Parts: sequence; structure tokens; C-alpha cells
Amino acid sequence: MATISRETVCFGFRNLLILLFCLSVTCLPFFPTTQKRNDKPIIGILSQESRSLPAGKTSYIAASYVKYMESAGARVIPIKINQTLEEYTKIFNSINGVLFPGGAASITSSGYARAGKIFYDLAIEAKERGVHFPVWGTCLGFEMLTVLTSGEKLLTGTNTSGVALNLDFTVEAFESKLFRGFPLALMEALASEPLTENSHKWSVSVETFNTNPELKKFYKVLTTNTDGTTEFVSTMEAHHYPIFGTQWHPEKNAYEWTKPYIPHSPAAVKTTFYMAEFFVNEARKNFHKFESAEDESAALIYNYNPVYTGQTSAFEQKYYF
Ligand SMILES: *[C@@H]1O[C@H](CO)[C@@H](O)[C@H](O)[C@H]1NC(C)=O
Ligand SMILES: *[C@@H]1O[C@H](CO)[C@@H](O)[C@H](O)[C@H]1NC(C)=O
Repeated sequence: MATISRETVCFGFRNLLILLFCLSVTCLPFFPTTQKRNDKPIIGILSQESRSLPAGKTSYIAASYVKYMESAGARVIPIKINQTLEEYTKIFNSINGVLFPGGAASITSSGYARAGKIFYDLAIEAKERGVHFPVWGTCLGFEMLTVLTSGEKLLTGTNTSGVALNLDFTVEAFESKLFRGFPLALMEALASEPLTENSHKWSVSVETFNTNPELKKFYKVLTTNTDGTTEFVSTMEAHHYPIFGTQWHPEKNAYEWTKPYIPHSPAAVKTTFYMAEFFVNEARKNFHKFESAEDESAALIYNYNPVYTGQTSAFEQKYYF
């Protein structure tokens, strides 16, 4: 994987910004003024099984993912596990994007994996009809995306279960959808300071990525990292679909406090916001909506109360279903 020095990063990004400004005001990052826009985007967040659930509950969502999406102007609905294909299709046609969170469920045989596959397939099929439906995977969700795309579990053990790292940007990051709108100072900070929190025992190594034709054809690697032994893919976006993934946790910097290695500096918190803003802007390009205002109200996360779990889990608050 071609990685480049911080000096090259800054130089390249500065040039790119100048180019963007010179092209035209309609080319400013994030949202072209000529494009139709949905200012009421709703993101579905996938719930998952867990060994530690209160009696009578079957799945959970960490509240940080909800706050993360809300911070950039989206509303959220939970996507519960074990629903029928018809129910999931109806939800898909009502919402504007889906987020597969991190966690510890199986990425091949759980309710999380089953629902994830259904939404991924629907998003691919929508794109082929010209409908833009963004999909985001964080950590476990990132790993699941690589399984959904390649049909195989291609993970390598890494020593990354609780560490903040700086991103090694690839040349492709500069022409990426994801990072194009980021402020130069934030890109410089991401390249040089440990602003991205990693909580994973498994990774997709750069070697595996480069030797898997499905992954290589489908995704562009935007950043890599290393645990000192294995270089792994840490941020990717699909070439032809609005599908994005980070092995790291953008939502934690602003909203999770249970671990000493979660960064909370101003640049770390800006990272949370710019990642959320990018994804919510992707969702603003989708025009799915609920059949009625009543259906929408009944589906929203506001119908549920988060529970304080910071004393007993890695998450400050969780929603249980
Ligand atoms: C979901 O379905 C699986 C497999 O059919 C089953 O083992 C599990 O108990 C179900 N979970 C819930 C929450 O219904
Ligand atoms: C794993 O990484 C941590 C630093 O993040 C280091 O302190 C530790 O020694 C490493 N463990 C192994 C087995 O390499």
C-alpha cells in the first residue's frame, strides 16, 4: 500500500484545496448547490445481540452512535434484529442511510449479520436503479462490510484492542469523497496526532486486501495503520457505491469516556463531527420517506430511553430492545 509522508500529505491537500477553490464556488466540499437535498434525513442504526443484556431484552445499540448522527442533523431509528425481509425492505424504503455499529456479534451468523446483509444488498440494488443510499460500517461493521463484499471472513489478529492512532493517509484519500471536505488543519492533525480510537482484535491486513480481487475492485483504501507488526486497512470507501467504513471509532471521541485511551482534544472532537457531517450529507442525497408521519414518529429512537451503563460496560449509555 502506498503511504506518503506527512509533508506530502499537507502539500497535496493544500494543492487540492486551492484547486477546489479555483474550479468554482459550486464545487465547494460536501454539497453541490445544484443537487436536490433532503434536509430531514433519517439514519437507521443496526442493533445487535450481546451476552450482557437485561432480562427480556434481545439486542442493544450504544447511545454514542445515536448522538453522533444527531450531532450532524439526522434523526435516528433503531433497526431491530430478526425481522422479516419484507419488514426490512419497508424500513429501507423509509430511511436515508444505515449505520452498522461496532460490537461483538458474529459477522456471519447473527441477527446483526442477517440484517446487515439485507440492507447492504438493498443499497447495492438501489444504486443500480440510480438511488443513492449510503451505508456506513464502524469497527465490527467495517469487518462485516468486507465479508459482505468478498463473501469471506478475511481477518488477521492485531494488537489493537485499546489504542489511539494517527492515520496514515494513502494518495487516494485526497480524491476521496470522505475526506475531500475536511479542513486542512484537521487532516494535518489526523495524520500526526493519535485521534482515532481502535478497539479491535481483528483487522483486514493491507496484504489480504491487496490480494483479494473482490475487495480491491470494490473499495479504495483511504488510510492504513499498523500495530507494529501488521499493516491494516483503517478507512475505506467504495469506488462506485456510497459505502464507507472505518476500523476505528469516530463516534467515541465526543461521546464515550469509559476508557483512558479515547482522545477528547478539540481536534479529536472535530473528527467526530466531520465524520458525522460527511455521512449525514450522504444521507441528504436520499429521498426515501415513511408512508405517514405516524409511522415515522413510531419508528424514531425517541420512543426509547437510553440506560446509563458506564459503570459496567465500555459504553456510557445503551438502548435495549
Ligand atoms: C433470532 O433468530 C435466531 C435464529 O432464528 C434465534 O436463535 C434467536 O433467538 C432470535 N433472537 C430474537 C431476539 O428473536
Ligand atoms: C500491544 O500494544 C501495546 C501498545 O498499544 C503494547 O504496550 C504491548 O506491549 C503490545 N503487546 C504485544 C503482545 O505486542
